[in-house]
Amino acid sequence: MMIDLKRFAVVTSGGDAPGMNAAVRAVVRSAVAEKLEVIGFERGYAGLLSDQAVPLDARSVGGIIHQGGTFLKSSRAEAMKTSKGIRQAVNVLNKRSVNGLIVIGGNGSFMGAYKIHNASEIPVIGIPASIDNDLAGTDTTIGFDTAVNTALEAVDKIRDTATSHERVFVVEVMGRHRGFIALEVGISAGAEVILIPEIKHKVSEVCKRLIESYNRGKKSSIIVMAEGAGDHMKLAKSIRETTGFEVRLTSLGHVQRGGAPTSYSRYLASRMGNASIRFLLEGKKRDMTGIKCGVIVPVDLEYACTAEKELNKHLYDLALKLST
Ligand code: F6P
Repeated sequence: MMIDLKRFAVVTSGGDAPGMNAAVRAVVRSAVAEKLEVIGFERGYAGLLSDQAVPLDARSVGGIIHQGGTFLKSSRAEAMKTSKGIRQAVNVLNKRSVNGLIVIGGNGSFMGAYKIHNASEIPVIGIPASIDNDLAGTDTTIGFDTAVNTALEAVDKIRDTATSHERVFVVEVMGRHRGFIALEVGISAGAEVILIPEIKHKVSEVCKRLIESYNRGKKSSIIVMAEGAGDHMKLAKSIRETTGFEVRLTSLGHVQRGGAPTSYSRYLASRMGNASIRFLLEGKKRDMTGIKCGVIVPVDLEYACTAEKELNKHLYDLALKLST
């Protein structure tokens, strides 16, 4: 069923992710092609709540496809966790006569959109953009590929110096709750140890593995550790004390959130941005633009932001097997 949709709003929300700009560009240009009006709210939900709206047209999204960050800016808005905040968001959207809201962000942002829909029936579409790749119902998210490649480049460099000095390096990558970045970077960098929140580790076992590895002739090792897998400083100290190895620590931090999006992040953003408009025109009410086996699919928004995304434990075993 096609619906009579005249104006919609777009917002980038939560932790930024490389490719968000490409997604906004695709949203705006796909809408313009359908003769729809588009407004953006700046600074994520914070800007929506304070009605910081800007008109967007084909030209206003020119020259941004290759840029990291989000030109609309972003924020983590605590107010959206309260019913007062949701009511305020609905008021602003109604005042602006918005017929559909597109939220480009992660699970916290989608929860806000879901609540807006429940309180108002305004159709909401989520475009998954998060370096963590932690949304259920989609194989991957905008920004994940870029963050993985950024981290991988850093780990490759660390490998050079680790080899020269025969040291153990603990490299902390992002991922407060999930280990998707650590797992993919760990496999791709040939890390000797990968530590992720989903699989509990014992420091004694990590040390044992490093010693065995050393005895097999590997004089240096790399441990890729997700933020949420424990205290990286404590781990480095324990390894030093238990094994006597020289240990160094590198925390990659927000470098992983910036930089030019990779080809895949831009490609995914372009496809998902376009799909968000299609979904609204088809009358979808609260969906995420997921990707499954290369095909863009609608995914129930509530499922996307509440279900736990499965981590492929076989990949973890594979990483261990290959780094012996
Ligand atoms: O957006 C995801 C993420 O980058 C996580 O990997 C990280 O734990 C968190 O955001 C950091 O958030 P902030 O930039 O708000 O400190």
